Amino acid sequence: MKRRTFLTWIGVGGLASSLPVAWVACSPNNSSDISSSETIDSEGGPIVSARDVDTGPREDGFTLIGTVAELDDQGSLTNKTLDVAVIRDPADNGTVIAVNSRCTHQGCRVNWDGGAKLFTCPCHGSRFNPDGSVANGPAAVPLGSFEAKIEEDSVLVKVS
Ligand code: FES
Repeated sequence: MKRRTFLTWIGVGGLASSLPVAWVACSPNNSSDISSSETIDSEGGPIVSARDVDTGPREDGFTLIGTVAELDDQGSLTNKTLDVAVIRDPADNGTVIAVNSRCTHQGCRVNWDGGAKLFTCPCHGSRFNPDGSVANGPAAVPLGSFEAKIEEDSVLVKVS
C-alpha cells in the first residue's frame, strides 16, 4: 500500500469514529440545562415548565398571588413580577384589595403598614390609603388598583 493511500484510510477512519461522539453531544435529549418537567419543542428548545403553567393567569384572567393563610400570616401579599400588593380590606375583613405596588411619585415599591393601615413608600415618604388614594405626598396620583377576590384558600388578582 502506498503511503498516500494509507494516510487517506487513516483520515476517513478517524472521521468515522468521531461522528457518533459528535452526534450524541449535539442531541437535544443530552442537554443538561432542561429540567425533566419542561417540554421540548420541535427545534429542541424548552417551551414552558409545568410550574409556569400553574402560576400564569387562569382562563378568567385571575392570577394566584398566594393563599389566605399566607395573607393572614404576613398581613399582605406582594408579587414583585406583577407589581401587585394585596391586603384584607380594613373596612370589610372578608374582602381583599389589590393595588399596584409601585409608588406613583418615582416608582419605588410601597409597603403595607398594618398598624397605620396605609401603604408607605420608603423613598420619599408618600403614604396611600388602603384603596390606593393618596394620604400624603409628594405623590399626587393614587396607586392603581386591580380586581381581587378570595376563592376557597386562594387570593386571586386580575392584572390587566
Ligand atoms: Fe415614593 Fe417618591 S418614590 S415617595
